[in-house]
Amino acid sequence: MTSVYCFSGSGHSYAIAEYFARELQVPVVNIDRRLAESHCQADLAVVIFPVYCQNIPAVVRDFFSKLDSKHVVLIATYGKISHGNVLWEAFKIIRGRVIAAAYVPMGHTYLDSSTQFDAQPLQPIFARIQHPRAATLTRESKHPLASFFPSWRSRCGVRIWLDESCNACNLCTEQCPMQAIEAGIIHGNCIRCLRCVCQCPKSALHFQLHPILKRYLEQTPCEDTKVYL
Ligand SMILES: Cc1cc2nc3c(=O)[nH]c(=O)nc-3n(C[C@H](O)[C@H](O)[C@H](O)COP(=O)(O)O)c2cc1C
Ligand code: SF4
Ligand code: SF4
Repeated sequence: MTSVYCFSGSGHSYAIAEYFARELQVPVVNIDRRLAESHCQADLAVVIFPVYCQNIPAVVRDFFSKLDSKHVVLIATYGKISHGNVLWEAFKIIRGRVIAAAYVPMGHTYLDSSTQFDAQPLQPIFARIQHPRAATLTRESKHPLASFFPSWRSRCGVRIWLDESCNACNLCTEQCPMQAIEAGIIHGNCIRCLRCVCQCPKSALHFQLHPILKRYLEQTPCEDTKVYL
């Protein structure tokens, strides 16, 4: 059985997941807290997720520790700042053989809502799925402070607030991968993925970047797509 698993805050990784799901003719399975607590089995698992503060998002890391798949394809999307070493880190956690992996540059969650990506460099992955064998991944550099409370730093850098147009529909509660929001009110576990902001039907949730984060995000973009086979 083939499964396409995806965690996506602002829809960038989801666009790639939909592309793989279409090509492989299977549905996309969303990774959230509930899924990360269950045992997931597949012959081939294609897992697509964003880079958060040069790390694997916590919910995806938990999912990896429960995933039991013979073959695994890993796709990490990143916002053209730095992808760190997440594919190597995922490779070390996963049970099963990683047959292909890729870093794909996309718009940054906090800057760009476009979900366009270049599918061309990903084509060799489909050939590898047909004829699976172990991929060779290389270790990439990562900022020494990247693992220093990444979720806490995201909360400091991004403020989310609710306006009076909220009608308490609770869609944000249903969609939140961390079970961190109730009727528009956020509590502790929020990872600032912005899924609630993007999906609120009343546009009642808003976000603002801290000036230090804003300046940090102005650096020259790194546009590299890297595919490991
Ligand atoms: C909390 C958070 C941390 C992020 N950290 C990084 C980062 O370290 N490097 C980077 O290039 N992009 C970073 N990004 C941008 C995302 O990796 C990128 O926009 C990704 O494609 C978002 O995918 P999604 O819409 O599926 O969540 C970050 C985004 C968020 C929300
Ligand atoms: S999705 Fe929007 S309108 Fe619905 S409860 Fe959440 S914040 Fe309110
Ligand atoms: S409450 Fe936080 S973790 Fe949940 S969807 Fe919103 S930004 Fe993401």
